[in-house]
Amino acid sequence: MRLDDKTAVVTGAASGIGRAIAVGLSAAGATVVAVDRDPQGLSDTVATIGTTATAHVVDLADAAAITALRDTVVATHGIPQVIVNAAGFDRVEPFMSNDDALWESLVAVNFLGPVRLTRAFLEPILAADATAKIVNIASDAGRVGSLGETVYAGTKGGLIAFTKSLAREMARHHINVNCVCPGPTDTPLFASLPEKVRDGLIRAIPFRRLATPAEIADAVLFFASDHSNYITGQVLSVSGGLTMAG
Ligand SMILES: NC(=O)c1ccc[n+]([C@@H]2O[C@H](COP(=O)([O-])OP(=O)(O)OC[C@H]3O[C@@H](n4cnc5c(N)ncnc54)[C@H](O)[C@@H]3O)[C@@H](O)[C@H]2O)c1
Repeated sequence: MRLDDKTAVVTGAASGIGRAIAVGLSAAGATVVAVDRDPQGLSDTVATIGTTATAHVVDLADAAAITALRDTVVATHGIPQVIVNAAGFDRVEPFMSNDDALWESLVAVNFLGPVRLTRAFLEPILAADATAKIVNIASDAGRVGSLGETVYAGTKGGLIAFTKSLAREMARHHINVNCVCPGPTDTPLFASLPEKVRDGLIRAIPFRRLATPAEIADAVLFFASDHSNYITGQVLSVSGGLTMAG
């Protein structure tokens, strides 16, 4: 699957799954616009990829910063052909221990971040009558629920519904919108979960191991490539069989 001459915007590119996606898309020939709020992690990603990647420090909870990012990217790279919304965060604790600040932040980053970034880039894409592939990284928590991740799961379920609805609206523009749901994946986010939760999840996975970030990136590469031209509005779990949603 080749992405030569394509520009891909990847959020969350400073770590874990987003970094693996940036590296994978770059290996397939894409120029990568790496976006994250973590400057050090971004530098490491860009150093790994080399001159075909640029680093853009953006807090995706900041709507104005997303618009500014879009303007910079379009001015320097032109209109991107691939957009991957991978940034996100989680804090595992019982719903009744959550505070309002956590909910606000989860919604701002995990749901409104992809919504705003997608909308910002769709403006020039539609104005130019261009096509694009949009891939959202949700979570199996958004398909089947997850203990201690109640509002996180809500944001991911929202992202799945957003993906499907946007796919319907964008189909006439030949813009594909799909969703990858990682299962438990070996990243700093997973390592931040309580040990009991981590052990329980690994035991429940039919393959009895975590996904590697590169295995999630492989699914994203498919949705970003011409091999998925007739696929839109779909949700693919990459979870070692943990979820087998119909
Ligand atoms: N690791 C897992 O087990 C797992 C499972 C299901 C879904 N996911 C999803 O995969 C995606 C990537 O997760 P990961 O495991 O690689 O986590 P990670 O913590 O390794 O990486 C997440 C990245 O998102 C960035 N980020 C967070 N908030 C941001 C903000 N406000 N603005 C800009 N950047 C921000 C972080 O700086 C970090 O670089 C997330 O959306 C997560 O919800 C992960």
